[in-house]
Amino acid sequence: MQIITRIKEMQDFSNSVRGEGKTIVLVPTMGFLHPGHVSLMKEGSRRGDLLIISIFVNPTQFGAGEDYDNYPRDMDGDQRLAQEAGVDVIFSPAVAEMYPKGFQTYVAVEEVTKNLCGISRPTHFRGVTTVVCKLFTIVKPQIAIFGEKDFQQLVVIRQMVSDLNFDIEIVGMPIYREKDGLAMSSRNKYLMKDERKAALCLFSSLRKALALFERGEKTAEKIIKEIKSSIDTEPLAQIDYVKICDTKTIEDIEKIDREAVLALAVKIGKARLIDNVVLKPR
Ligand code: PAJ
Repeated sequence: MQIITRIKEMQDFSNSVRGEGKTIVLVPTMGFLHPGHVSLMKEGSRRGDLLIISIFVNPTQFGAGEDYDNYPRDMDGDQRLAQEAGVDVIFSPAVAEMYPKGFQTYVAVEEVTKNLCGISRPTHFRGVTTVVCKLFTIVKPQIAIFGEKDFQQLVVIRQMVSDLNFDIEIVGMPIYREKDGLAMSSRNKYLMKDERKAALCLFSSLRKALALFERGEKTAEKIIKEIKSSIDTEPLAQIDYVKICDTKTIEDIEKIDREAVLALAVKIGKARLIDNVVLKPR
C-alpha cells in the first residue's frame, strides 16, 4: 500500500494506471476509519483494479463553531484498516496542498442542499462538493463509492456529477450498523457511556416509524410526530430535525406516495448524529 500526499504525484500515478487500461475506484473519507468505511472499501476492491481511498479532514465543510479542530484523527489505525481492506493507495494531502493561499473557487449544488442538514449547516455541502470535485480531478477514478448513511450527501454528489458531466459512476452503499443498531460514525467517538446508550434512540425511533409505515400509515406528519415523541423521552437527546423527503429532490413531502427518505439529526452530548431509512411504497 502506497501513501501519496502530493496532488501532482497522485495525478501522475492515476494517469499511468489509467494508461494501462485499469479501473480506479475512489472511496473519499475523512479518516478515523470504522467498519462502515471498510464496507465501502470492500465493495471498491470488488469493482475495480485499483482501490484508492482519500483521508482528508476537509475544513471547508465545517461551519464556524463545529468540530473541525476536534474531529478524531488516527493515521496509524487508518493505515492498518486500509491495508487489511485491500487498499492500494491512500491519498492524504495536507490542508495547504488542497487549499493553498489564494484559493477561491467553490462548487455549489443549489437545490438538493437546501433542506435537512443544509438548514442547520448552511455552508456544509458547498465544502463537500468542492472537495469531492477536487478529489475527482486529482484521483481520476472511473468509480466512486459513498455511503447512504449520509443520504443527502449522496444525492448532492450524484447531482454534481450529472450537472458537471463527470464521467464517474457513483455507487451508494447501505448503512453499516453496530450490533445494537447504532449507525457507525467517526463521531460516535464523542459519546460518553450514558450518551452511547441514549444514541440508540435514533435507530429505535426509525424502526418504530418503519413499522408504522409498513402497517399502512402514509401521512408524513403522523410518522414524524411519532418519532419526535419517541426521541423526546430520551433526556440526553436534542432533536435538530426529523423529516420525510422525496429521495430525488430532498423536498418535504406530506403523503408518502413515492420513494421517500425519513431522515433525522439528533444532538447527544458533543455529537451531532444523523441516520435515515428509505420508505418505499408498494
Ligand atoms: P466520512 O464521514 O469519513 O465518510 C466517508 C464515507 O463513508 C461517506 O461516503 C459516508 O457516507 C460513508 N459512511 C460513513 N459511515 C458509514 C456507515 N455507517 N455505513 C456506510 N457508509 C458510511 O462523508 C465524508 O467523510 C465527507 O463528507 C467526504 C465525502 C469524505 C468529503 O469530505
